[in-house]
Amino acid sequence: MYCEYHSLARRIQALDLGDYLEFGCGDGTFLKYVLSQNNSFRSVTAVDINPESVQKARENLTEWEVRFIVQEKLPLPLEGDQFSTITLSNTLHHLRDKDAVLSELKRLIKPDGRIIITEMISNDISQAEQTYCDFHAWRAAMDQLKGVYHDPTYTSDEILSLITEQGLTIGKKEILKNDKIPEIDEHEISQIETIIDDLVQDVSQRPEFLEFEKRAWSIKENLRHFGIKRPRQLYLEITP
Ligand SMILES: C[S@@+](CC[C@H](N)C(=O)[O-])C[C@H]1O[C@@H](n2cnc3c(N)ncnc32)[C@H](O)[C@@H]1O
Repeated sequence: MYCEYHSLARRIQALDLGDYLEFGCGDGTFLKYVLSQNNSFRSVTAVDINPESVQKARENLTEWEVRFIVQEKLPLPLEGDQFSTITLSNTLHHLRDKDAVLSELKRLIKPDGRIIITEMISNDISQAEQTYCDFHAWRAAMDQLKGVYHDPTYTSDEILSLITEQGLTIGKKEILKNDKIPEIDEHEISQIETIIDDLVQDVSQRPEFLEFEKRAWSIKENLRHFGIKRPRQLYLEITP
């Protein structure tokens, strides 16, 4: 999915990664995207709270030597001031305690290091991007039902407030557009319809079932009508 954002590749290739930490690595999609096009790293560390995602990341990243840490509790078992680059990619809206995580990242980054945040944004979007945000918000609500913290997509102003409230300084800032064409892609639409149908089945015994099913129908209708496209991403380089 990251290859849909052409200007992100230019940003990533320009980084001097050094000792590099990806916080919230998930299945390693973003980490693989970074390591495949920039070999300026000296060491790579990846953190996540979800052991199943980390197992997938291990399988995805066999080409590189990555130190994985599966842990939610902070502080992490890592010395402070040791990373030149920390990335937090589409993870902010998954964090239950953003203040605690951002202050941990501040502890871990070297005084001359950079924290990179990329996060999809929900403001000024097309109809196909709105379909994506509705689908994402529906999945987030489904996760919350299962006790997994997951917010809908934030606006760029919401993200900027979160960062500045932490006393972090925003250096470079760019809104990255998604260059994907076309927005109506039959293969992608039928894949998403299958995901929606499976997720609806997952909650079939819950009292919220009818509400989720109704939202699912509306998303499927918009999928066919407008297509789907991941919205723009806010890219930030932050200094401690
Ligand atoms: C949408 S995924 C992003 C994965 C990856 N950064 C990417 O873009 O390919 C968000 C990840 O954040 C992880 N996460 C949520 N809370 C976390 C926390 N407190 N500490 C570490 N990881 C966390 C989730 O388990 C999930 O794998």
